[in-house]
Amino acid sequence: MTTLAIIGGTGLTQLGELNIIKREQLTTPYGAPSAEFVTGELNNVQVIFLARHGNPHSIAPHKINYRANIWGLKKLGVEHIIAVAAVGGITGEMAPAHIAIPDQIIDYSYGRLHTFFEEDAVTHIDLTYPYSQKLRARLISAAAKANIKISPLGVYGCTQGPRLETAAEILRMERDGCDLVGMTGMPEAALAKELEMEYAGISVVANWAAGKAEGEITMAEIERHLHKGMANTAKLLQAFVN
Ligand code: HPA
Repeated sequence: MTTLAIIGGTGLTQLGELNIIKREQLTTPYGAPSAEFVTGELNNVQVIFLARHGNPHSIAPHKINYRANIWGLKKLGVEHIIAVAAVGGITGEMAPAHIAIPDQIIDYSYGRLHTFFEEDAVTHIDLTYPYSQKLRARLISAAAKANIKISPLGVYGCTQGPRLETAAEILRMERDGCDLVGMTGMPEAALAKELEMEYAGISVVANWAAGKAEGEITMAEIERHLHKGMANTAKLLQAFVN
């Protein structure tokens, strides 16, 4: 397989299973990426890991330099990206600790530097299918192989953060067709498409979205569920590269 990158989100700042070979700090025309790029081996397959929120986790979703991150990965020869992200669950089976491989996105974020195409040439990329169907299919079969129950479809709604949503915002998102809510899916997916990279997401449900369970959302609850979801994500990633 060509070079694979894993972008880790909240709850996945380091990939413990990675045998680290080297760490690289890159400068890009778009500024500094979130962290150093860590090259290593996962089950003997070379993988480049990047911590989206920095290592340690310190960069808020709206402050992430998505362009530097994606440009840096491209520069290192990456062709495939698996983007792991913590999300809130909105519909049906999207319960805490569950994993979904989303197939669609609705973008509610704003004010983020979201394109590589703003100076020399205006290029309108197609984003009908924001995630690589090929990578998604491989993730879905890896989950079956590893015996991990996942949702093979889901609409990811990207909010601005860093605050969580109101209950009414989540109801609106549900009416719009969102199954999951996160803060980092965009512009990351679109930027990868602009640079013609195959990109797919693993959404790890940390909590029921606002108003979908009794009471308020606590960080303690998020951490507890993420812990379990990320353990399954590590297994899924290992099955994926096998
Ligand atoms: N909303 C947005 N992003 C999130 C959530 C949420 O409820 N949980 C984890 N990331």
